[in-house]
Amino acid sequence: MSISSMKDIQLLKKIGLIVSQVLKEMRQAATPGMKTQDLDFIGAKLLEKKGARSAPKLTYNFPGTTCISVNEEVAHGIPSNRVLAPGDLVNIDVSAELDGYFADTGASFQIPPYHGPTQRLLRVTRSALDKAVNTARAGVRINQIGKAVQEIAQNGGYTVIRNLGGHGVGSALHEEPRFIGNFYDKNDDRILEDGMVITIEPFVSMRAIHVVEQSDGWTLKTPDRSLVAQFEHTLVIRKGYPVLITQL
Ligand code: CO
Ligand code: CO
Repeated sequence: MSISSMKDIQLLKKIGLIVSQVLKEMRQAATPGMKTQDLDFIGAKLLEKKGARSAPKLTYNFPGTTCISVNEEVAHGIPSNRVLAPGDLVNIDVSAELDGYFADTGASFQIPPYHGPTQRLLRVTRSALDKAVNTARAGVRINQIGKAVQEIAQNGGYTVIRNLGGHGVGSALHEEPRFIGNFYDKNDDRILEDGMVITIEPFVSMRAIHVVEQSDGWTLKTPDRSLVAQFEHTLVIRKGYPVLITQL
């Protein structure tokens, strides 16, 4: 969507705060021995308390409230009886709707004990998000987002997942602009416009360059089981620094 009033911003911020809180609480609750479905339940209860609805469930009938992806799973992991283990790389992606407004956020983190290479991947992915957010402003080409992410990833010795990226959001979970790649596409001449609501979500990988859908019809994995980290914000494009919708 493109925001047209203060009310749009206020209501986006309201659902943005909720998904950010849910992500934070789930992250704090994630401990070794816990099943991902129990972690999802914590998120479901909190969303319910706030009167918000799971966006993937609402939009795609996803069999969970949030997406929880572990290790070689990169995205759209279904909460299940999988038990979290020490050292696991976990991604939680929370998107939800309230009063017709949608926000989408996600983060990867490691269950202790920390492993140097995994922590480095997390740091680089986080800085790719920060750099891309800094780049995103009205009048700039959409491909500058992917350029920023790709540069940071490659400078860190990593690859980007080419078939996952950001997207328009706000009045639906996924809307125009449809795909905001995490790599530089010189043929993409779309321009970021003032008021545009998008997500930026770098997927930075140790090795893989794409993910493959599993037979459950949801889970996306790297074919070589290499690790991937993701961080995601919903934001509103402005003439200067964007308005971060999913920030506590
Ligand atoms: Co997301
Ligand atoms: Co998203």
